[in-house]
Amino acid sequence: MKIDILTLFPNMFSSLNESILGRAQEKNLLEINVVNIRDFSKDKHKKCDDAPFGGGAGMVMMAQPVCDAFDSLDITPDTCRIYVSPKGKRLDQALVKELAQKKHLVILCGHYEGVDQRALDLNIDMEVSIGDYVLTGGEIPAMVIVDSVSRFVPQVLGSAHSAEDESFSDNLLEYPQYTRPQNFRGLEVPQILLSGNHGKIDEWRHNQKIEITKQKRPDLLKKD
Ligand code: ADE
Repeated sequence: MKIDILTLFPNMFSSLNESILGRAQEKNLLEINVVNIRDFSKDKHKKCDDAPFGGGAGMVMMAQPVCDAFDSLDITPDTCRIYVSPKGKRLDQALVKELAQKKHLVILCGHYEGVDQRALDLNIDMEVSIGDYVLTGGEIPAMVIVDSVSRFVPQVLGSAHSAEDESFSDNLLEYPQYTRPQNFRGLEVPQILLSGNHGKIDEWRHNQKIEITKQKRPDLLKKD
């Protein structure tokens, strides 16, 4: 999968070169390309924002550098162009899986009071929000999308690990995990996990998922 990220703050994305996503890029399973919108400014000071027409606080990202940044990309019918904003469709695991089917994502990160609406009208297929709260910019939401979607790209998690075997598959939260030592500060690992009986362990884990979901997120049990 290829992901282009359009941003005024490209350095924020250096963390995507670490850990699982870093390895996925080294193996060419994932190609992440960060584009600095400022490179497309025609202003001698590389200015990319201006005051809003109609007045009001803050600055608005100008249409020209944003549109020129989009024009520099190879957009095909397989591309999904996303603008991250609190006004968008709420990201959940179903939307993550839908986005993971695409061959090419472009994610536009807004800043300040937003982006000139014409740049969005001309370029955006889908607006996505990561939750009902407001962040200072779209960079962290873009990273949330890249991380959650990449887990579903074949081989990114490695063969022994399934993206489905986690919280939210079947609308259930994940069962608790334990590792050595068997007794830590007086707390024992549940006996069943030491039994070697994999049928019983699977059953226990499934029951734990249902109990934990009932306790922590009963709303998930009502989803279809
Ligand atoms: N930009 C600012 N806040 C955001 C949010 N909650 N989701 C997506 N993009 C945003």
